[in-house]
Amino acid sequence: MDSTTKKTRKIIVTQALPYANASLHLGHILEAVQTDIWVRFQNINQNECLFFCADDTHGTPVMLKAKELGIQPEELIKNVQLDHIDTYDLYDIKFTNFHSTHSDENKKYSEQIYLKAKDNGYISRKTINQLFDESESMFLSDRFIKGTCPKCGAEDQYGDNCSVCGATYDVSDIKNPMSAISNTKPIKKESEHLFFDLPKQIDILKDFLKNSDLQKPITNKLNEWLNDDLQQWDISRDAPYFGFEIPGENQKYFYVWLDAPIGYLASIDNWASKNNLDMNNLWSEKSEYEIYHFIGKDIAYFHGLFWPALLSAANFKLPKGVYVHGFLTVNGEKMSKSKGTGIMAKEFADICDPETLRYYFAAKLNDKVEDIDLNFEDYVQRVNSDLVGKYLNIASRCSSFIKKNDNNLSTDIDQTILNTLTSRKGEILGFYESRNYSKVVRLIMELADQVNKYINDKTPWKKDIDEAVIISSTALNAFNILSIYLSPIIPNITKNAFNFLNSDNFLFSDIDKILLNKINKYDPLLNRMEPIKIPKENIMNDENNYININQFTDIDLRVAKIIEASHVEGADKLLQLKLDVGDLGERQVFAGIKSAYNPDELNNKLVILVSNLEPRKMKFGVSEGMVLASSDDKGIYLISPDTGATPGLRVK
Ligand code: MSP
Ligand code: ZN
Repeated sequence: MDSTTKKTRKIIVTQALPYANASLHLGHILEAVQTDIWVRFQNINQNECLFFCADDTHGTPVMLKAKELGIQPEELIKNVQLDHIDTYDLYDIKFTNFHSTHSDENKKYSEQIYLKAKDNGYISRKTINQLFDESESMFLSDRFIKGTCPKCGAEDQYGDNCSVCGATYDVSDIKNPMSAISNTKPIKKESEHLFFDLPKQIDILKDFLKNSDLQKPITNKLNEWLNDDLQQWDISRDAPYFGFEIPGENQKYFYVWLDAPIGYLASIDNWASKNNLDMNNLWSEKSEYEIYHFIGKDIAYFHGLFWPALLSAANFKLPKGVYVHGFLTVNGEKMSKSKGTGIMAKEFADICDPETLRYYFAAKLNDKVEDIDLNFEDYVQRVNSDLVGKYLNIASRCSSFIKKNDNNLSTDIDQTILNTLTSRKGEILGFYESRNYSKVVRLIMELADQVNKYINDKTPWKKDIDEAVIISSTALNAFNILSIYLSPIIPNITKNAFNFLNSDNFLFSDIDKILLNKINKYDPLLNRMEPIKIPKENIMNDENNYININQFTDIDLRVAKIIEASHVEGADKLLQLKLDVGDLGERQVFAGIKSAYNPDELNNKLVILVSNLEPRKMKFGVSEGMVLASSDDKGIYLISPDTGATPGLRVK
């Protein structure tokens, strides 16, 4: 399609609204990058695509966080919003507008949608029995109740699930419930709540699942929920609650998940009024815009059921698609604060160029709901071999020949290789549109390989200057095409590439245009990445560092007796120990205790051995475990059990 006949689509895109109780981590960035690439792609493909987001500010977690910091929730959410905006900016996430759910617009739409739903007969009331924290005078939701698991008896488990045996249960079944907020025993108290009639929307929801663009596993899951036993949805919370008061009620607030998605509308409305646009043209029943939500798999329920039910009860247009991504894992592990695998986005940007993370995420993203792993070694290797070694290599090897030509490109170029690149445009557009960015990346790198091969085959360095300039000009035109193809993924590097080429060709419709301007001096657009080391303080630290009892019992600690200790040839810190570990037999361990102990004084000494530590091959032999010792700058102190302990006894 060429730009004159192309029909421009009008598109509104949102990503999930991050909670305003903490900074962003790399999982948030994964979602933002996935969405931002899609939006940028639509725009350079000459559609009109708007991208809205906001902070999700209401509810108990924000309230408690503010309390913990000794500030008002309003102050907390203001600080967090600034922090979120800064962080997204570092990763080149380009919102049309970033707003807040704690805003006049959101209040207006929340009330309007609620009242409309009420008028249309979707709201009912029911008295429920709930746990109430008397010292804080507040009702407790499940996650703020702790107690003993009714299945396995593990203590200190959350109100609705057990982290030890994995059971899920009703909060009324948990034994010895305690308030996680005040650590006092809650009482049962009655309270009247407002409910949204979800079952009444079942036909609308079925249609929605049939007609909108959803991934297969999501449709299946949503259908399962739909056909299971759809319940009335509790949309009210009692004071104290940080949120909007429900009109016509006394001290009742909208549940955060009611006003959160309405925040999408609020952000659009806020932008529309700043730009003198009519909201009705953007999102109403008659609007021409296609609406898409990008979200993570944990909130599919809200976006696939509650949200369309709410929108249709208030006569708003339904989204055309909901695109769900999986979770980010880091080096194969779930992002977990206690394991140190949760990485804060702002700090990560100090360690790695955010563009390179965008590239890596793109190289792994597809249209599936699968989790995505950020593997540090793979990441560094991908960036170095693809971006530096293939793509940018074209510019760096060709610029010197053009420099010798007074920075003038030849227009007498070799069209064949360029055709190879432009002929793949349709595939690339298709992969972007369907969010198969990993395929986009693979195809573009294949093309970069071909351009490098073209240069290798033509050997400009062996040719006279005229011919070398033709070859290099051809390759730099190819480099411009590759830059257009890559620009949704790495907008900053490609912007610098266009500057270097002095090129105005940066739309998909420009790929057939030839470069005509003098180029600029080539400065490397990206340096090779070094292996990544994350300083400990950059790991998520807003949670305690407890391990649970299972993690502790995973460590097999044993009483052991030293039956032989000796110096190790060539090692200045180590002693070699032979240990008797009772039923586990004998073990050889190298211990860094030479500065503090003579081998003879160790004979028959009892120590504690970490017996299931992975054996480590050292220069001097294999070390089969580790003996426990403490140390300070004055010495090293082996840990010994009291007399009476025998080799092989388990420490627990
Ligand atoms: N505030 C709600 C969303 C309201 S939308 C009307 C929320 N906030 S969140 O901060 O917890 O998550 C925001 C988005 O980030 C969600 O789409 C969530 O799935 C996503 N992610 C949170 N952790 C993630 C990973 N580890 N990996 C990928 N995405 C993750 O939910
Ligand atoms: Zn349990």
